Amino acid sequence: MNILVTGGAGYIGSHTLIELYKAGHTAVVVDNLSNSNPESLRRVAEIIGIPEIPFYKVDIRDREGLERIFAEHRFDACIHFAGLKAVGESVEKPWEYYENNIGGTLTLVDVMRRHGCKNIIFSSSATVYGDPVEIPITESCPKGQCTNPYGWTKSMLEQVLMDIQKADPEWNVVLLRYFNPVGAHPSGRIGENPNGIPNNLMPYITQVAVGKRKELGVFGNDYPTPDGTGVRDYIHVCDLAAAHVCALQAICRHCGIGIYNIGTGHGYSVLDMVKAFIRVNGVDVPYSIKPRRAGDIATCYCNPAKAKAELGWEAKYGIDDMVRDSWHWQSTNPEGY
Ligand code: NAD
Ligand code: UD1
Repeated sequence: MNILVTGGAGYIGSHTLIELYKAGHTAVVVDNLSNSNPESLRRVAEIIGIPEIPFYKVDIRDREGLERIFAEHRFDACIHFAGLKAVGESVEKPWEYYENNIGGTLTLVDVMRRHGCKNIIFSSSATVYGDPVEIPITESCPKGQCTNPYGWTKSMLEQVLMDIQKADPEWNVVLLRYFNPVGAHPSGRIGENPNGIPNNLMPYITQVAVGKRKELGVFGNDYPTPDGTGVRDYIHVCDLAAAHVCALQAICRHCGIGIYNIGTGHGYSVLDMVKAFIRVNGVDVPYSIKPRRAGDIATCYCNPAKAKAELGWEAKYGIDDMVRDSWHWQSTNPEGY
């Protein structure tokens, strides 16, 4: 299949391109580079062994720009990663988040349907469950109250895409609810490249390990979890990338709407991650206990059985692979791209 990959220069998009080509698909990337560097695409092409990945530096809110791309290519489906994703920033700049994520997706979907491409895989998030009413979380768990505008853009866009599919059953919409992506391609050539101070746990750990930050703050050790620190479902980004290729099969089967949790089904605490990182990589990660972070929940991990049963997908990488590959990327690219 020929796939339009929005946000393909970013962290998850770049890893997904490799899985797409490995499975025999081709891709065209559209990205405005607001949170990425085109070097990622150069390295993806190098890993795949092709001269280059077709790329347009276009914003998905730019209707004419998208029209030009659709005039030049025929797409079987779109994998839609493009969006802003910093939780704290979304609280400061809600308008920018709603306008970029929701406005951009509405424009994208309109151009897609005008060109007869009605298949989309959308990057959703475990954040749509809010404080989940059941653990492990299944897809039948009700959606909850999001604690920030970023989370609401995901929750609202799920609804928008489902309503569009309901009104026009020619659409196939796959909503992938990612849990906590970490790790990097085993080559160490591509990985997560956050701007400024990282918000998420793994990039913070790797930046402490490489000496860019003094110590990790562990946000709370009084949660009702085995060691008191927050528990999450960390998933290797290559496993997550492979889930998108499997999701294309759902589209081929004309699934209508498909909603899938994409996690490993295992919960690890903050201290589990820190200790695994130190053990596997043999580097120190100084840390100290800090107060809880506002909006955090104690425990979040999924039951990924539906993705296995219906998409034939399951995670293959374990916690040791995640911490090893995160460190390989960070230690060989201390300044990112
Ligand atoms: P990322 O920031 O690395 O990638 C997103 C890409 O989209 C970037 O390259 C950015 O330049 C591009 N982009 C943003 N707005 C755009 C626009 N208007 N037009 C064109 N390009 C635009 O983020 P990521 O971690 O790869 O996340 C990919 C998707 O998965 C996002 O939608 C994100 O919200 C979602 N997601 C991420 C996580 C996570 O922890 N990384 C978890 C759940 C869901
Ligand atoms: C965050 C986002 C969520 C997004 C998800 C996946 C918030 C509030 N939520 O979730 O919307 O879908 O990423 O990318 O940001 N931690 C520390 N010290 C740190 C950083 C994190 O102790 O410096 C702890 C957190 O308290 C949490 C765990 O590590 O228990 C994971 O945090 P993080 O990586 O930010 O992910 P989430 O909070 O699960």
